[in-house]
Amino acid sequence: MTTNEIRQSFLDFFKNKSHQIVDSSSLIPADPTALFTSAGMQQFVPYLSGEAEPPYNRACSVQKCFRTSDVDEIGDEFHHTFFEMLGNWSFGDYFKEEAIQWALELLVDNYYLEKDRLWVTIFKGEKNIPYDKEAEKIWQKNGIVKNKIKQFGSADNFWGPVGSTGPCGPCSEIHYDRGKEFQKDKCTLPKCGPNCGCGRFVEIWNLVFMEYNTAEKGEYKKLKKQNIDTGAGLERLACVLQNKESDYETDLFLPIIREIEKISQKADLSKQKSGRIIADHIRAICFLIADGVLPSKEDRGYILRRILRRAMRHGRLIEAEKGFLIPLAQVVIKQYHNIYPELKNEQSDILTIIQKEQEKFEKTLSQGLKKFKKLVSKVYSLRSKVIDGKDTFHLYDTYGFPLELTKEMAEEEGLKIDEKAFEKEFEHHREISRAGAKKKFGGVGEWGDKVAPHHTATHLLHKALQQVLGDHVQQAGSDLTPERLRFDFSHSQKMTDEEIKKVEEIVNQKIKEELEVKMEEMSYEQATEKGALAFFKEKYPKIVKVYSIGGNSLTSSEPPFSREICAGPHVKNTNEIGQFKIVKEKASGAGIRRIKAVIENQNGKIKMENDPSSKAKLTTGQAL
Ligand code: ALA
Repeated sequence: MTTNEIRQSFLDFFKNKSHQIVDSSSLIPADPTALFTSAGMQQFVPYLSGEAEPPYNRACSVQKCFRTSDVDEIGDEFHHTFFEMLGNWSFGDYFKEEAIQWALELLVDNYYLEKDRLWVTIFKGEKNIPYDKEAEKIWQKNGIVKNKIKQFGSADNFWGPVGSTGPCGPCSEIHYDRGKEFQKDKCTLPKCGPNCGCGRFVEIWNLVFMEYNTAEKGEYKKLKKQNIDTGAGLERLACVLQNKESDYETDLFLPIIREIEKISQKADLSKQKSGRIIADHIRAICFLIADGVLPSKEDRGYILRRILRRAMRHGRLIEAEKGFLIPLAQVVIKQYHNIYPELKNEQSDILTIIQKEQEKFEKTLSQGLKKFKKLVSKVYSLRSKVIDGKDTFHLYDTYGFPLELTKEMAEEEGLKIDEKAFEKEFEHHREISRAGAKKKFGGVGEWGDKVAPHHTATHLLHKALQQVLGDHVQQAGSDLTPERLRFDFSHSQKMTDEEIKKVEEIVNQKIKEELEVKMEEMSYEQATEKGALAFFKEKYPKIVKVYSIGGNSLTSSEPPFSREICAGPHVKNTNEIGQFKIVKEKASGAGIRRIKAVIENQNGKIKMENDPSSKAKLTTGQAL
């Protein structure tokens, strides 16, 4: 069965059981407290927690996911940064009985897996939540014999919440026994079985019985409704259904692996660590860029840069030709664009960004590797096992080696790095460069200056959307770069051309009015009393910054056009913004729309690309 057939068959199966098929949401989640979308349930959290009324009681999807937690495992058979998750959901509708029965029906009747090879795990009871006897009974009723039902604690069989709060619950996992020939020496159990980690058993599907909510750590309250949340990794399922040794030999990865073999003139890379890492990372790189992540020094951008550079280093190890990530990205785009059209739509961004990053790091990679070799000799000659923090920082600062890259290289040599000392060094240099930037330019720093016009425009946009569409519009996420702004908000229909035009007009009108942007600090209570918008039930500090656009100040009777709790930075006056233009409006998850907008004719005080001072500022930045 091809992976296209596996996806389709999954969706058809649940559609036949009255599930609404929902598109994958972006890898950048609407919830700003989560870095990436790492599970299919994320776009449904408001429905699962009972905060919002779902438009359907049953849903299914194939969701793009990205997990950083497994990054060090990449290279084995089954772990990935980017992967696709097949999932079905019940929002207060069916519960354990149907979820279990249907999972087995799909695996056995539609995917033709031998039922005898299926084992399951159940929650043994912990955290004041009881042992899942009910699930055990249902599995047995459906033909899974007792000795193939194993009990585990919360580390394995309690799922969620994503982040620190939200819906969660005990779960049952379905594992597939690949047979004795896959059992390895590293098997940790007296008897090999699910979760022993030796590779014989593959976890293929997780069924979460989501009936709890945690608002604070360790406190579990029953939700009003019982929900189902399931997730099956497509890559693993394909491995099992296509009877392969690892995910890298399935039709999802083989075209990429073949291209790597061509580029490096090496064979059998699906079995080799560097080949697997490159194949895994190039998929993630393409999908992250397609969803708007740009390489940078922080947050999502840092993760993207880190895997780009790691892929490049592994390219060196297998002697791939220079610039090898571009042909690989082309293979990924070709392979996936029918299912994920964003890859085709953003193709030129994907290729340009990879190209630029390659050029940048290629310049320093060889020298950095030489430097690293010298460091290793130095450590050996000192009979030490640790590369010191200053040297690790030097590799980072001068050669652009992310900390994790140096760590991985050190481990390959049987060495460690002194992470604490690295961090100390990092902080020290950051302070020096901050002080330097302030002295030279008197500003908040390169990034702040560059994104401030887009940031202020976001506040205007938020207010304009509320005026045009209604007060239900709430910010659900935003992402700023010097080139564009992206804004996610709650609204369930596509905006009409007229609505888009109206919103643009309001924002541009406010820009024209040359409104002052004021910042005042006050307590959180005072800010909300004054009507400042606050978001996402975030944990705000006691004293918050409030930005008002227009009006006079908080003491004045004239209300501002917009007032939000926000950390800034912003422009001082809307006349610094330029012409605002919405370039895209599309869905981004259930009940969430996404606007991409740019600023044209930037003619105010802050110029971007051609401003010599902003170029100068770039030189104060570190190599990464
Ligand atoms: N949310 C569950 C998982 O990610 C299904 O495993």
